[in-house]
Amino acid sequence: MRIDIVTVLPELLKSPFEASILNRAQEKGLVEVHLHNLRDWTTDNYKTVDDYQYGGGAGMVMTPEPIQRCFEELMKERNYDEVIYMTPDGVVFNQHIANQLSLKGNILMLCGHYKGVDQRIRDKYITLEISIGDYVLSGGELAAAVVSDAIIRLLPGVLNNETSALEDSFQDNLLAPPVYTRPAEWEGMKVPDILLSGNFAKINEWREEQAYQRTKDRRPDLLED
Ligand code: ADE
Repeated sequence: MRIDIVTVLPELLKSPFEASILNRAQEKGLVEVHLHNLRDWTTDNYKTVDDYQYGGGAGMVMTPEPIQRCFEELMKERNYDEVIYMTPDGVVFNQHIANQLSLKGNILMLCGHYKGVDQRIRDKYITLEISIGDYVLSGGELAAAVVSDAIIRLLPGVLNNETSALEDSFQDNLLAPPVYTRPAEWEGMKVPDILLSGNFAKINEWREEQAYQRTKDRRPDLLED
């Protein structure tokens, strides 16, 4: 898989991809992540990427031309399966969307800033608009990092067995059950006996019950669909 991210703040996006699992995934050749500074596609001395909005009102809008130049250059090199715009008015990201995106080959992401991007860029190029939640970030960069992380950890070979994504919260629309490690007793609190029993059928049953109960208590909405 290849992910290209177009941003006015590449430095904000660098470190997430240089650490831990995301770095290892790249080193193993399982994913390539390329950051593109939108200002590299400007043509004026000030490297302008935004302008006042038609109709008036506070806040600048990202101008279409640098984005177009950047996109066209990238699209000459390869076909993109999805061109994603990170924006608070997109569809709210979830595990299902992450699963779908993890099956794609090439993904292009555009990080919004200011009041957002000129609508015509969205109309011409964008195939999917994603929000990571009902709150407003100062730009789409952190959202792009969140979405990339959720996708990349699903790619075959990125996680080992111990951290398998199959048992994550949300993979079956249930939250994950509680987990314990040594010591068996800590601060007067004991690990549930069943987990020490060695009876794996019973342990699985217990985990399923716990997952269901936790979901019912905390996220009943997940049980509805
Ligand atoms: N840009 C600003 N806020 C955002 C959000 N919640 N999700 C995605 N992109 C954003």
